[in-house]
Amino acid sequence: MDKDKLNQIMEKFQDKQQALLPCLHFIQEEEGKISEEVMNFLAENLGVPRVEIYSVVTFYSMFSLEKQNKNVIRVCASLSCYLNGTDKIINALKEILGIKIGESTPDGKFTLEEVSCLGLCDQAPAMMVNDKEYGNLTEDKVKEIIKSY
Ligand code: FES
Repeated sequence: MDKDKLNQIMEKFQDKQQALLPCLHFIQEEEGKISEEVMNFLAENLGVPRVEIYSVVTFYSMFSLEKQNKNVIRVCASLSCYLNGTDKIINALKEILGIKIGESTPDGKFTLEEVSCLGLCDQAPAMMVNDKEYGNLTEDKVKEIIKSY
């Protein structure tokens, strides 16, 4: 854990508690997960109860307690996407990657997740790979997207 960098982030905020999300983003990016050690460090230094930090980490899909692979695919399973064929998209991804929802490929390249609305409802069905948004998905489009990684 890069404590110096975390301290630098914290110093930017007058109200230390507001540094929680930026710190979590930094650690997730750096380490691929939010560890117990990090949660304890932040609780101590931000004055935020540890249980609250745990709630934030488990609530937001961009944070993870388990180490995530290089490319995290998040497929929206909320109503608009569901009605526009999320099932087909998920099945295509399962077939291409050879894994189920919640699993990672053996080579460590992809993790597949099902999430709630990504705010791309006008392009349903939609998914994100890391920070990149993809909409109006078809099975063919998904194949091309995966190939590009
Ligand atoms: S319902 Fe899928 S992005 Fe909103």
